[in-house]
Amino acid sequence: MSQEPEAQSTFHGDRLRGILIVDLGTQYAQLIARRVREAGAWSEIHPAQRALEAAQSMDLAGIILSGGPASVYEQGAPQVPDELFGLGVPVLGICYGMQWMCRALGGEVEGGHTREFGHTSMHIDQTTGLFAEVPADTVVWMSHGDKVTHLPAGFETLASSTDCQFAAVGDAARHLYGVQFHPEVSHSKHGSKIVRNFVIEVCGLAGDWVPASIAEHQIERLREQIGSTGEVILGLSGGVDSSVAAALVHRAIGKRLHCIFVDNGLLRHGEREAIEKMFGEHLGMDLTVVDARERFLAQLAGVLDPEVKRKRIGHEFVEVFREEAKRFQNANFLGQGTLYPDVIESVAVHGGNTAMIKSHHNVGGLPKDLEMELVEPLRELFKDEVRAIGRYLGLHEQLIARQPFPGPGLAVRIVGEVSPERLAMLRQADHIATTEIERAGANVDLWQYFAVLLPLQSVGVMGDARTYEYTCALRLVESSDGMTADWAYLERELLRRISSRIVAEVRGFNRVVLDISSKPPATIEWE
Ligand code: XMP
Repeated sequence: MSQEPEAQSTFHGDRLRGILIVDLGTQYAQLIARRVREAGAWSEIHPAQRALEAAQSMDLAGIILSGGPASVYEQGAPQVPDELFGLGVPVLGICYGMQWMCRALGGEVEGGHTREFGHTSMHIDQTTGLFAEVPADTVVWMSHGDKVTHLPAGFETLASSTDCQFAAVGDAARHLYGVQFHPEVSHSKHGSKIVRNFVIEVCGLAGDWVPASIAEHQIERLREQIGSTGEVILGLSGGVDSSVAAALVHRAIGKRLHCIFVDNGLLRHGEREAIEKMFGEHLGMDLTVVDARERFLAQLAGVLDPEVKRKRIGHEFVEVFREEAKRFQNANFLGQGTLYPDVIESVAVHGGNTAMIKSHHNVGGLPKDLEMELVEPLRELFKDEVRAIGRYLGLHEQLIARQPFPGPGLAVRIVGEVSPERLAMLRQADHIATTEIERAGANVDLWQYFAVLLPLQSVGVMGDARTYEYTCALRLVESSDGMTADWAYLERELLRRISSRIVAEVRGFNRVVLDISSKPPATIEWE
């Protein structure tokens, strides 16, 4: 009798065991990663030109080739290295990825004759393996012009639709599978299940990339990295990332963690007091509050360029941490709450395809001669995973649910020069907006909601007199990880209340506007 092979843990050796997602130009790479993570597996996304190198350096359990807008015959179309099909790990090709795989292995692809787009009924021949527990008749999302017309040797049809004979194909012996539809999008009714089946049934992963095991694994890794005498300086911002990072490091090394909260003058209303209470009093961590307002503002005087602002703030943070580190004998480590999206957006980790958008201060702005080793327990995680870990570690829900706040603080929410007067205006307007939104309970569906100061003067009339004052923009967005975002709308009365209060109570604003830009093409913060 054949025995089921034992499921492989993500936390298997020195490296995490997981799935390589090859980005072939799709809009959906992050969505594929999300589905894989929902299945309890870890993944990395790389472009075609980096795929082989990534596959060789990862502890690889399987590969997903994404879709893409190109045709496999097109000049300049992303080229999947042939070697990926011979590594002995399962491969799932989606749309373009399937077409590339079939052609590379001896099948045929025909271009241009089909236009299958949108919801499509699909019949599955065998509801096992990739399609285990998926109904034989289901609905999937198709979006393709080319299609596979002849299968490579060893492949068989697994599912078909009216217009697509090979809606899903596979070679079970070699663990190679292709789907013409997009299982990652929510319109494919059982798409998540199909991705899950690939990860668990086909790749044999245990699905143990879940908050409890991620947290315990990271705590173990932290203990190894920091050793039995090392001390960590960690900049606490009050946001969820640095808080969860602190909680993890605290669990790993206790009092050898020294949290530094820098009051850089760029904080929101009441922030400093809230942090002191939460971390010092409630969580019993070693917390030092450094008043650095003057030195940060001095660095920002006269600076208009957003990138210069970010770099200077990042630099000043590091200087403060370095000075603080001198107070401790073995503080050779700098802890940070860097997340995976920070890493992707700050450095072209994808090897060139991803443009540098903003230098997130905790990734892009570190000096080469830091002389402190970085401790970044959240570097592989998305925000919702971080929140889940925070809950597992027992952090207060109020803290976990807090909206993200960028390291450079209000400085990137003031377009142009930062001055004490502008900061005071923005802080007050932001407090009005957030308080009203929270009081109305409208924050639950929002990822972030805040005010921005635009030094754009316009004419107004107040008490019969002419005004010529600044503009306050409201930024309200929905998002699940900050990588993409949609603008949000609030009930008219609530918007009216926020707007009237800001103009009436904050001197210097005579106009409030609503930012209705999604990301992309805009970003969430204005700078
Ligand atoms: P953007 O503006 O790039 O923001 O669309 C995406 C998410 O990241 C936050 N953000 C930052 N977080 N340091 C941080 O810790 C930074 O320098 C930084 N810049 C942006 C932003 O608030 C949003 O949630």
